[in-house]
Amino acid sequence: MASAYSTLLLVFFFWITETVNSQQSQTPSIELGSSLSTNFQPTSWHSPSGRFAFGFYQQDRGFIVGIWLASKPNATITWTINRKNPHVSSNATLELTKKGELVLRRHINNAADEEELIAKDLKGSASYAQMLDSGNFVLCNERSEAIWESFNFPTDTILGGQNLNAGSELLSSASAIDLTTRFHLKMQVDGNLVLYPADSLDLPPDAYWSSDTDSYPGIHLNLTWTGDLLLVNKTLHTIKHVSFSGSESNSTSIIYRATLGSDGVFRLYSHNFSGAAEYSISLMWYEPEEQCDVKGSCGLNSYCNTIIDSQPDCLCLPGTAYVDPNRRFQGCERNYKDGSCKDTNEMAISLYNIVVMEQITWDDDAYNKSSMTEEGCRESCLEDCNCAGALYELGSCNKKKYPVKYARRTTRYQSSKAFFKSIKSSNHSSAIGMVPPVIQRTSKKAVVQILVMSLAFITWCLVALSISGFFILKSRVVKGRMQMESGNFGMARELTLRAFSYRVGKLWKQ
Ligand SMILES: *[C@@H]1O[C@H](CO)[C@@H](O)[C@H](O)[C@H]1NC(C)=O
Ligand SMILES: *[C@@H]1O[C@H](CO)[C@@H](O)[C@H](O)[C@H]1NC(C)=O
Ligand SMILES: *[C@@H]1O[C@H](CO)[C@@H](O)[C@H](O)[C@H]1NC(C)=O
Ligand SMILES: *[C@@H]1O[C@H](CO)[C@@H](O)[C@H](O)[C@H]1NC(C)=O
Ligand SMILES: *[C@@H]1O[C@H](CO)[C@@H](O)[C@H](O)[C@H]1NC(C)=O
Ligand SMILES: *[C@@H]1O[C@H](CO)[C@@H](O)[C@H](O)[C@H]1NC(C)=O
Ligand SMILES: *[C@@H]1O[C@H](CO)[C@@H](O)[C@H](O)[C@H]1NC(C)=O
Ligand SMILES: *[C@@H]1O[C@H](CO)[C@@H](O)[C@H](O)[C@H]1NC(C)=O
Repeated sequence: MASAYSTLLLVFFFWITETVNSQQSQTPSIELGSSLSTNFQPTSWHSPSGRFAFGFYQQDRGFIVGIWLASKPNATITWTINRKNPHVSSNATLELTKKGELVLRRHINNAADEEELIAKDLKGSASYAQMLDSGNFVLCNERSEAIWESFNFPTDTILGGQNLNAGSELLSSASAIDLTTRFHLKMQVDGNLVLYPADSLDLPPDAYWSSDTDSYPGIHLNLTWTGDLLLVNKTLHTIKHVSFSGSESNSTSIIYRATLGSDGVFRLYSHNFSGAAEYSISLMWYEPEEQCDVKGSCGLNSYCNTIIDSQPDCLCLPGTAYVDPNRRFQGCERNYKDGSCKDTNEMAISLYNIVVMEQITWDDDAYNKSSMTEEGCRESCLEDCNCAGALYELGSCNKKKYPVKYARRTTRYQSSKAFFKSIKSSNHSSAIGMVPPVIQRTSKKAVVQILVMSLAFITWCLVALSISGFFILKSRVVKGRMQMESGNFGMARELTLRAFSYRVGKLWKQ
């Protein structure tokens, strides 16, 4: 009798709990068999507040399948079914099937439907789905346990209350002009949160921002309801504040969002829905601080520039031209053939100019680092057929082969100077136009050397005069060519003269 009574009590208790629970979550359930379509209503399922929706979001060229926040003027996509290409054209449906699966169907004329399972690896079969006010889309089993949630598969964004778990990553979204993912934010298992270009090997030289927490393996990133980005360990102790909002209240009218932008910058925003008519988005925090610090924002052999214009731009290094002038971030390629390499140094000297740039740097991947003078560094690169450019910094000459990676030019690199090899052009003005930010230097030493040289030539001519007429003719031709070129005094000529004057100097000393 007593046991029957307690069983009844227990059943009653469970009934009460269930009732309270279902009243607390007033989120309407999406029943099995419900579907959405690109062609007719409904096209999406909304959260109770109406701020978030899951379904087909119309864009110019078709639809994006995912979750979005009803921001103004345009919605903000916070999750997509496919991280790299979430677009579908019309004639598609999304269905929560009677079997408890979430399926995208593309209906193609005169062909079988293409089916794609959206929620994979379910822990059991779903009884219903819900679009929550947090921005999380969940599939639940008959015991109301979440068996799949969009929050566990972030794309380029995490929202308040969402984590980026150890070993997972955010991929930057494809932009309208470029459908490829170019950057990622990795929550590494070693505990470090790191930004890298997507097509890199993710080695330390590729990183362009990190949380410096690699001594805490297994920690995860947590965006709290109050807008703090925290690195938290398994027992939920905060290891580091990545950003601090200063906000205390868990206001339902503020939604926090951290997104890895298509430009490679990781930003934290707050969306304020307080004012009925007014709606505002605030940028709360971002890293890295300068766009040009995003490695890979400009392709190989180009440099990210903020000096000429405050807007960052990708410009070709001297001696290179855009791979695609309409997509400048895709980098540049060498615009000359390396024909002289097999030949002598003198051949190289007559073929190339050295172009000087200041306030520039690139990845530290030199094939030869030696300490020498600035002049020595110029000559060393000019004479070396492997050398694409040499970075001269604090007395060290760092020579680099093609391709040059992660080059950037900002006022922060005051002390650096770089020498680039560039093919001599028959049309000098067009060669200069190709590389606008170049600082050309002609040393006074060179002028002195011309005088020394001329003297040497005259002496030589006088000697030659007494041998043969042929030599006189030849020396005149050489002398004439020299005078022609001295008005436009190239680096190569300067070097030849230096070599000559060195010998003359030696003679004088003897
Ligand atoms: C909003 O979307 C329209 C159409 O796609 C686009 O032309 C416009 O630039 C967008 N506005 C903003 C602020 O993103
Ligand atoms: C969509 O379906 C309609 C009617 O069935 C058809 O006329 C149209 O060509 C289809 N569009 C595509 C892109 O398959
Ligand atoms: C996220 O951080 C908040 C505040 O420290 C904490 O209450 C919450 O439990 C954390 N959640 C996870 C899953 O780490
Ligand atoms: C989390 O950090 C706290 C405080 O530093 C520490 O006491 C705890 O052992 C850590 N938990 C784990 C699982 O490492
Ligand atoms: C903050 O608000 C969200 C939804 O608005 C809720 O799910 C969460 O439990 C709240 N957190 C705290 C600590 O009150
Ligand atoms: C949100 O907007 C309301 C009304 O415009 C304003 O009073 C409030 O201070 C804002 N909150 C935040 C955190 O910006
Ligand atoms: C690097 O360059 C210096 C100066 O040109 C040269 O003496 C040295 O042998 C080079 N080192 C290597 C490893 O090539
Ligand atoms: C040399 O460059 C100038 C200016 O860029 C151009 O007008 C001219 O046609 C070019 N001449 C030759 C021979 O390429």
